[in-house]
Amino acid sequence: MFNNLIGIWSSDMAIDLGTANTLVYVKNRGVVLNEPSVVAVLNQGGKSKVIAVGEEAKSMLGKTPGHIQAIRPMKDGVIADFVVTEEMIKHFIRKVHNRKTFANPRIIICVPTGSTPVERRAIHDSALAAGARKVSLIEEPMAAAIGAGLPVSEPRGSMIVDIGGGTSEIAVISLGGIVYSRSVRIGGDAMDIALINYMRKRYNLLIGEASAEMIKKEVGIAISPKTGDGKTIDIKGRDLASGVPKEIELTQAQVAEALSEPIQTIIEGVKSALEDTPPELAADLVDMGVVLTGGGALLESMDEAIREATGLPVTIADEALSCVALGSGKALESESSFEPILSSAY
Ligand SMILES: Nc1ncnc2c1ncn2[C@@H]1O[C@H](COP(=O)(O)OP(=O)(O)OP(=O)(O)O)[C@@H](O)[C@H]1O
Ligand SMILES: [Mg+2]
Repeated sequence: MFNNLIGIWSSDMAIDLGTANTLVYVKNRGVVLNEPSVVAVLNQGGKSKVIAVGEEAKSMLGKTPGHIQAIRPMKDGVIADFVVTEEMIKHFIRKVHNRKTFANPRIIICVPTGSTPVERRAIHDSALAAGARKVSLIEEPMAAAIGAGLPVSEPRGSMIVDIGGGTSEIAVISLGGIVYSRSVRIGGDAMDIALINYMRKRYNLLIGEASAEMIKKEVGIAISPKTGDGKTIDIKGRDLASGVPKEIELTQAQVAEALSEPIQTIIEGVKSALEDTPPELAADLVDMGVVLTGGGALLESMDEAIREATGLPVTIADEALSCVALGSGKALESESSFEPILSSAY
């Protein structure tokens, strides 16, 4: 009876600590939190204090006065600012806790495959410092594959490509293990920067990261439209020569040109992963195809670009943005069957 109650009210959780977004899955409840990985800090009299986290802090990015800083503590898929990351994890854990009695949860947390032992330890220790009782780590592409519903435990190769904000993780999974993986430190953030650079070089127009992300989500495209210039969008920014605000019209063909370099890098990563995949598993991929997850999977024609480059069938996972959280949540729910893929060491 008592065990049952703990089961129902357990606050054990799985966290997808992403460069762009953090998702928290609570046992028996599902994904209960999904917020940008942004923290706003007030610096006053040599001391700093967190004043906003998540959605509220993101709306401040690029718009803060001198004494307030909006920080993205995760960069390239790893922790760039330890103190602020820890504050952020603490804040999110507190937010999902509705019963103080069962504090000190067990936490499963995702790490990119390319992260070093030092980076893993930092993530592990941040979760402990944030109040976790026990912390296990799960590789991000494995979590993504489980969340996308791939048959990870079967002796059949499947390929997952998780295109996040900071990294693109490419992995071939079979028999519950990662047979091959590659992490490219290029993702949605690099696409935003490519757009900013394009606007500056081509139009002498300075735009911020928030505008660049908006353009990418609205009209972003991986392959230039087959006919014509595609959709258009009006962009406001600051003219670098005159210093005053101006507006220009951008076409999808131009956006495709602006995004070509980061997209090419991701495609090269997928191709080299295929070259390094053992032949028996490569043969499986012809039938199983490639599954895309992460926010970058939602970029228009991203699937088509990978299909063209590899000749393999490519599908976009349902709930691409939540796959990692859903997959680590599944591992949390049936821990015994996923034991081998969780690690408590680094
Ligand atoms: N419709 C869309 N089209 C293109 N890009 C998108 C779209 N929606 C979200 N994105 C981008 O996806 C990225 C966020 O994806 P996701 O939440 O999977 O990243 P993350 O898990 O936080 O990062 P990482 O896994 O690298 O740590 C952002 O760069 C965002 O701009
Ligand atoms: Mg991610």
